[in-house]
Amino acid sequence: TVAERLILGQVLCFEGDPRKLGVESVRHETHGAVLIRDGLIAEVGEARALRAAHPEVPVTDHGADLILPGFIDAHVHYPQTAMIASWGKRLIDWLNSYTFPEEARFDDPAYAAEIANRYLDLLTANGTTTAASYCTIHPTSVDAFFEAAQSRNMRVLAGKTCMDRNAPDNLRDTAQSAYDDSRELLRKWHGTDRLSYVITPRFSPTSSPEQLSALGALWAEHPDCLMQTHLSEQTDEITWVRDLYPDARDYLDTYESHGLLGERGLYGHAIHLEPREIDRLADVGAAVVHCPTSNTFIGSGLFDMALADRMPVGLATDTGGGSSFSMLRTMAAAYEIGQLRGHALHPSELLWRATGGSAEALHLSDKIGRLAPGYEADLCILSLTSTPAIAQRATRADSIWEAVFPTIMMGDDRAIACTYIAGVPVKRT
Ligand code: GUN
Ligand code: FE
Repeated sequence: TVAERLILGQVLCFEGDPRKLGVESVRHETHGAVLIRDGLIAEVGEARALRAAHPEVPVTDHGADLILPGFIDAHVHYPQTAMIASWGKRLIDWLNSYTFPEEARFDDPAYAAEIANRYLDLLTANGTTTAASYCTIHPTSVDAFFEAAQSRNMRVLAGKTCMDRNAPDNLRDTAQSAYDDSRELLRKWHGTDRLSYVITPRFSPTSSPEQLSALGALWAEHPDCLMQTHLSEQTDEITWVRDLYPDARDYLDTYESHGLLGERGLYGHAIHLEPREIDRLADVGAAVVHCPTSNTFIGSGLFDMALADRMPVGLATDTGGGSSFSMLRTMAAAYEIGQLRGHALHPSELLWRATGGSAEALHLSDKIGRLAPGYEADLCILSLTSTPAIAQRATRADSIWEAVFPTIMMGDDRAIACTYIAGVPVKRT
């Protein structure tokens, strides 16, 4: 039997990046509908027309709530779920004081499973349906995450975080074991159900040149995989990289010279870039990821959204360096950083970054991140009146953009009326 459902609500349909196509390219249906068939979006249109064309299909009416693609978080560390919002440190001290001790706990498979499930509950409660996660050095932390996502039929991407220096004894692998373990995990999980393996060197300071080369070789052997890492997040970190890699032209070159620069590369933060680094990222078609709540929380700097004119830019919480699990809060922080840099990001661009923009960065823009026929039916149903303060702003709105912006700025998980995973509404936990 065919599982069909017609869901009604306001609909925003993005054809592509409104930064490039203009806000007029976004179609708005006040009385819209999405027809879901077997976990995929079959049709998107006007409610009356779709109801007339499919009179037998069961209907779920979300009223004036907005039907959006599920949010896509392009850079997170699920193992940092239990130490998010740790006080008072900048990047390197924050890693040593809070992050590494917590990540060391993931040698226990039961703990890894507990946190993976807690993390995915938080994701769907916040309307996020896909995340690209770092795990820990332990292969079992990858198994735990993929098993938890698989049992929920979620599309996720993840990889074993590789480190062979400048980390505690119990959190170091070697160049060889990083290669071997990553390859085994890749073979086990990549392409299974909705799961993708991502080759994951943490960042240049915690990998030897030999480890970067080994992972570069693995990537060359599996060119359909993504590779994720951190790039130019804090100035102290950049100085350290220069000391550790004296022959490198710049931070990006530490990756480039070890086979870790490519179109399927995903570079988190990318704040303090040199002109050569920007040119090289653009030349190869690599993607960068904006992590605004992390960049303010850890004190890293102000990302330049103008990079989006030259390369795909994803949006991400960077949990738990970021201070939130919510892509609404993340869009709000991106807006605030835009203001500090002199450019007010339009609500359409904020929503695009959190959906289709992240999908593009993750090379999944043919599967998720848009409301269009053939796309996977991962949806976020967003209330635009979730609190009295937001509602009194939204009721005065003259356009859908004025109506949605207060929810972007002030909304939290109460604004997430429902989350659908592959066409199925997820119960709130
Ligand atoms: N750089 C290297 N590791 C990390 C991490 O876990 N979080 C952040 N924000 N930056 C990093
Ligand atoms: Fe990160």
